[in-house]
Amino acid sequence: MQTDAIFEALYLDPGRLREGDRTIRSPIDGQPIARLTDTDSSGVDTAIGRAAAAFQVWRKVPAPRRGELVRRFGEELRNHKESLGALVTLEAGKIVQEGLGEVQEMIDICDFAVGLSRQLYGLTIASERPGHRMAETWHPLGVVGIISAFNFPVAVWSWNVTLALVCGNATVWKPSEKTPLTALACQALLRRAMAGIEEAPDGLSEVLIGDATVGERLVDDDRVALLSATGSTAMGRAVGPRVARRFGRSLLELGGNNAVIVTPSADLELALRAIVFGAVGTAGQRCTTTRRLFVHADIAEPLLERLRLAWGGVRIGDPRAPDTLVGPLIDQAAFEQMQVVLEQLRAEGARVYGGERVMPDGLAGGWYVTPALVDRRGVADNVHQETFAPILHVFDYRTLDEAIERHNAVPQGLSSAIFTNDVREAERFLSATGSDCGIANVNIGTSGAEIGGAFGGEKETGGGRESGSDAWKAYMRRQTATVNYSRELPLAQGIRFDME
Ligand code: UN1
Repeated sequence: MQTDAIFEALYLDPGRLREGDRTIRSPIDGQPIARLTDTDSSGVDTAIGRAAAAFQVWRKVPAPRRGELVRRFGEELRNHKESLGALVTLEAGKIVQEGLGEVQEMIDICDFAVGLSRQLYGLTIASERPGHRMAETWHPLGVVGIISAFNFPVAVWSWNVTLALVCGNATVWKPSEKTPLTALACQALLRRAMAGIEEAPDGLSEVLIGDATVGERLVDDDRVALLSATGSTAMGRAVGPRVARRFGRSLLELGGNNAVIVTPSADLELALRAIVFGAVGTAGQRCTTTRRLFVHADIAEPLLERLRLAWGGVRIGDPRAPDTLVGPLIDQAAFEQMQVVLEQLRAEGARVYGGERVMPDGLAGGWYVTPALVDRRGVADNVHQETFAPILHVFDYRTLDEAIERHNAVPQGLSSAIFTNDVREAERFLSATGSDCGIANVNIGTSGAEIGGAFGGEKETGGGRESGSDAWKAYMRRQTATVNYSRELPLAQGIRFDME
């Protein structure tokens, strides 16, 4: 699809895309695709105010009716899957399949949220007092601020907005300054869905354009009850304490340093495919990307040989071409960061394969690289920092205990995987003494989680959980209600407080 056709299909107003100081470039070729105006401080204030007013109305709308809005939004996404996927490709540089996959992830979470809108269950709890009933009720929370990253420009927002909406909240979204067009397109689609729901107030979903300074206003505003932020650990380290200082809630989804362990009993074909997708897919720019590989020493050499071949064979280039597997990095800064890390690794004595710049025909302004495979066996035993680029660090190990220990000995705790056909090894990996990550897989790679489970991780990954399972609880406030239907007033803990 041509750029103009994509914009038109997604109701993006060409006038608005030409007027501002912020230039949006496509990572495909580095060429400008739009100019936008940043939201100024009074604009942020107005947007939060509109959302706060919308919340007052929306919280009274029955949850299944709120679900109807999300159901309609899911229909819009189904009808615009191809064009929104193409815009993700244009703006974030994802290959066609992954652009479409991201929109599918949005559709899936809409379905999940619609079902949830008829649930939002609380508990009834046995009271210790006669003639009393104790229950817990989940109420809408308030304005939810959403800060999202360039690498999942639409899906991560959708996890937040769909749950927030069925839970009775209003939202204000600050997308990455690298991917605001996809945000405006999503907003247009959501507004179309809202048009069919007369109870849906105008300020239910607001979008702010700009960089971290705009995000900071959301972080510091008392009217924002929950701030859900996805991005680097450095960002989370700044945001978390600031939100906490005003006793706001935060939901953080930060960096990963995800590892795969391959044991001697593993199905190597399966492992190989999963490692390739996990490490080089999305050009290594997922928070769930496989960054570390621990291979048992007995099988390390043959597996590495296969990986080298695979690394040499991935088709890198224009993400719009149907057979491309690896598109560009987001920008020059990402490329330079990757080169600095590879240089350090070479200096350390690691054997680095790949990692060079490639310039596909006509796309010289894009930052394309061959994925890097770094054999660190005998040189180092771990890597502690996340580099947002396709670099896979390979280590070998002798015992599973040792592999798990090194697996966990990093500051991050998002996703993890073991490849094994030995049930003891698999169960050990999933046990209390196994992987310390929020996501732990057996015979599946580290990336590409389904929306039905809770998504997020431990330690420097931030501890937040989004999307499936009971992640919705983060978007509501819990109220414990005890009702006395007796004529007595027994006190809890058996306390006597007689007045005569
Ligand atoms: C992210 O990279 O921020 O599990 C989200 C996955 C995707 C989501 C990644 N479903 O890889």
